[in-house]
Amino acid sequence: MLSEGPVSGQVLAERLGVSRTAIWKEIEALRAEGALIEAHTSRGYRLVSAEEAFGPRTLSWRCEREVVWLPECASTNREAFQLGLDGAPSGTVVVAGRQTAGRGRLGRQWVSEEGLTFSLLLRPPLRPSQAPLLCLAAALGVAEALDLRIKWPNDVWDEQGRKVAGILAELNAEVDRLHFVVLGVGINVNQTAFPPELPNPGSVSLLRGPQDRALTLGRVLDAVTARCAEVGRPEAMLQAWRERSVTLGQQVRVGEVQGWATDLRADGALIVSTEDGPRAVLAGDVEMVRVG
Ligand code: BTN
Repeated sequence: MLSEGPVSGQVLAERLGVSRTAIWKEIEALRAEGALIEAHTSRGYRLVSAEEAFGPRTLSWRCEREVVWLPECASTNREAFQLGLDGAPSGTVVVAGRQTAGRGRLGRQWVSEEGLTFSLLLRPPLRPSQAPLLCLAAALGVAEALDLRIKWPNDVWDEQGRKVAGILAELNAEVDRLHFVVLGVGINVNQTAFPPELPNPGSVSLLRGPQDRALTLGRVLDAVTARCAEVGRPEAMLQAWRERSVTLGQQVRVGEVQGWATDLRADGALIVSTEDGPRAVLAGDVEMVRVG
């Protein structure tokens, strides 16, 4: 309605069944999140642009998602994990405007300004041994939503081998029962400059220009949720993962294992064909070995 405006506060209030003061407050809140909304004294409000807006109201309005919004926190994974312990339902999403101690895989840090940092809490009816498949499914969802590739197990890369997104999965489980999983996703969305210590960073905006973070988050959440729901019967998900992989068919090194990455096993392990025969790698960092 607003984008087709101008539309008066009175009309908006009647259509939404709230007071004009409530409309005025909502407009101010959307402006505070970055939406450009013109106000004409006689004709009302008109939305000029919302692409740069980001915050809880923008997310609820533009991607129809209710999220736990934290303007700043240490780590959305930490917050989502605590919510999981407190009994929050499956599907809870924690989004941060900014993280001060973002965590990456293998004890690394995750630094991300102008990006998306969020965690999705899921309570899937799975065994802990199936958790690696959730990581693959989440990476596939992110890669599909952004039309990118995947480096095993769950880094999201562009065609030039630059890392655009990463996933950190944390579990709360008994030996044979998964209580919940927190899938933490960090996406470089609008960054064009990066800390010098990052080996090969990329971003969606470097590929396609400035992006609307609210719409991007909505697309990514839809795709990740859909792919994670397939993990009980993962064949199609695994096949789609293989088709987006940059790892399969490459010469790789993972720890002391070196050889050709030939396949993804049904449990998510990477099969590496070595001089001593095939080896299944369950975790680690893949280094692509350049030939020639
Ligand atoms: C990686 O090392 O590639 C994984 C990075 C995961 C970063 C995300 S950002 C949102 C969530 N909160 C965290 O502290 N980490 C994850």
